Amino acid sequence: MISFATRQKEAQKKWKALQQSAVPVIYLGTATCGQSAGALKVLDAVKQTLKRKKLKAEIVQVGCIGPCYMEPLMDIRLPGEPRICYSNVTPDAAEKIIESLLIKGNPLAPLAVGHFGDNGHPLTEGIPKFFETPMLKPQTRLVLRNCGLIDPENIDHYLANDGYQGLASALRQKPESVIEIVKEAGLRGRGGAGFPTWRKWEICRGVKADQKYMICNVSEGDPGAFMNRALIESDPHCVIEGLMIGSYAIGASHGYVYINSDYYLAVARLKKAAEQMREYGLLGKNILGSDFDFGLTIKESAGAFVCGEETAQICSIEGRRGMPRSRPPFPAVEGLFGKPTIINNVETLGTLPNILRNGADWYKQFGVKGNHGTKTFSLVGSVRRGGLIEVPLGTKLRQIIYDIGGGSWKKFKGVQTGGPSGGCLSDEFLDIPVEYESMQSAGSIMGSGGMIVLDEDTCVVDLALYFLHFTQKESCGKCSPCRVGTWHMVTILDEITKGQSGPEDLTKLQTLAETAARASLCGLGQTAPNPVLTTLRHFRNEYLEHVQDKYCKSAVCRELVEYIVNPETCNGCQRCKDVCPTDAISGARSELHTIDQLRCIKCKACYEVCRFDPLAGNAIEIKPKRRVS
Ligand SMILES: Cc1cc2nc3c(=O)[nH]c(=O)nc-3n(C[C@H](O)[C@H](O)[C@H](O)COP(=O)(O)O)c2cc1C
Ligand code: SF4
Ligand code: SF4
Ligand code: FES
Repeated sequence: MISFATRQKEAQKKWKALQQSAVPVIYLGTATCGQSAGALKVLDAVKQTLKRKKLKAEIVQVGCIGPCYMEPLMDIRLPGEPRICYSNVTPDAAEKIIESLLIKGNPLAPLAVGHFGDNGHPLTEGIPKFFETPMLKPQTRLVLRNCGLIDPENIDHYLANDGYQGLASALRQKPESVIEIVKEAGLRGRGGAGFPTWRKWEICRGVKADQKYMICNVSEGDPGAFMNRALIESDPHCVIEGLMIGSYAIGASHGYVYINSDYYLAVARLKKAAEQMREYGLLGKNILGSDFDFGLTIKESAGAFVCGEETAQICSIEGRRGMPRSRPPFPAVEGLFGKPTIINNVETLGTLPNILRNGADWYKQFGVKGNHGTKTFSLVGSVRRGGLIEVPLGTKLRQIIYDIGGGSWKKFKGVQTGGPSGGCLSDEFLDIPVEYESMQSAGSIMGSGGMIVLDEDTCVVDLALYFLHFTQKESCGKCSPCRVGTWHMVTILDEITKGQSGPEDLTKLQTLAETAARASLCGLGQTAPNPVLTTLRHFRNEYLEHVQDKYCKSAVCRELVEYIVNPETCNGCQRCKDVCPTDAISGARSELHTIDQLRCIKCKACYEVCRFDPLAGNAIEIKPKRRVS
């Protein structure tokens, strides 16, 4: 078999050849968000254009580089020139850019968003450095270092960029020393709780067993979160390398990647990565000439949220219904198939190669005391620049939302972190540092990295109802505080949104939420009340407006809004009248229309068809009903 050192040298040679390619190189972001924005159509257009114009170029498909709102992203590097990045590329634009740059040498600077070279290059005049643009500049990319820059399906790209060096370093040391380095680095689990990674490893290492397992948790069932998926789609080897480092440290010889089967692209890339690793001798016996043996299973799941919980996940891998059990025994002592098992989050594992390669002191320079390193977030919702981001722990929420995200589209209302297990923080908290303890004392959690920005168009009661509805549906039903508690919370919230509640219901809701949080068996039920508790704490007035005044200022709660016709902008086209199922709309052609509120069932059909004036806006407006008090 070809030695690893030779593989590495060959990979570096190939990488250098790509960097110094004599033909132009065209990079296309084809991770899921690139694909959903049309990247595959752009890819097709690129191939057609090259063929039609008889141009030679190499095409490299890369993963997510971060600013997903700019997708499809296409970069082109002419021989000897810096790589130039273009955003929101359509098939027509791709053709135009290729023709201009490859034939005339004109980069169409106004269309470019950034370049990846040094300044002072004539070709990139007027184009900023990509990593100095507003969304990227405040970020620190450690775990995302390869994302969008290498081909995730090419192991040589990973090897040429220090791939498997962290594992090689780990295998040169005793497992105990690896645990010591991770301890010294202060790495805390990125799956949500921030539990020190070394501590559970040490417990597992200390248990005597003929077999141990390590699991990579790619459940990622929370709405709005995609950071783990994006990392695997863009750099699968870094996660597998981390899984192997952890396995070596605890004494496991088999690893599982438990992944939502909906993540078809991530699954495909993991399978390809495993295939290439087998070919390169990175899976199997005596890895890198050591006595470490390692086998890998990619276990596709049906995507139940509760299967993100460790004991439920273990049941699911064993082929049983995914249901949590009480602990102890903890999985580190008695886990998969009854053997000691460690479950770690994708990002925790993706961080390990960096730590093992560069050392604990290097890692500790990022972040703040007690919260070292960086954290990725999927920044979504009402935010101008959404996407996958990575910041040092301790970065303020304000910096994330405003400096990186560019602020909300409308007046900022709050931010939901940690998905359905997390909480909603108001603008008062914009200056708290994003790290485990501060987020917790504000009543929220950092979670695994979902961050949803909310503006004035979000009703917090409706938001809490949305998340509670989600957790109620996802509750496995094993324990009643969660099964029955979430159901009752949904019922109360639903009544509040319908204007059918009084102030006493807020007390009931609070008591119920606190009880479910205390009495539920697993993390799902224990954290499900968080959206209710945080919105009650930070947005109490909005709840009071609903229960006392039957008023929803965001005009979201269906029973508390009315549809009215704006006399200034209605042109009497009658489209609304034609679609109204209850004949609630009256008015002659070309004359002002009106809506009979008693007949209107708020089906929104009129609002959907009334789009005659893009400047003046919709003539049918959804407004909050007047306050009752
Ligand atoms: C309902 C529920 C869902 C969870 N979902 C995830 C998930 O999608 N990804 C994840 O890494 N951890 C998830 N967790 C936390 C895991 O159970 C576990 O603590 C984590 O994977 C440990 O990894 P870490 O120590 O690296 O953070 C979830 C927990 C609960 C209770
Ligand atoms: S808290 Fe909910 S999800 Fe967890 S065991 Fe109880 S019923 Fe199941
Ligand atoms: S919301 Fe529906 S029922 Fe009400 S006026 Fe419009 S179309 Fe008619
Ligand atoms: S998927 Fe391309 S920037 Fe996120």
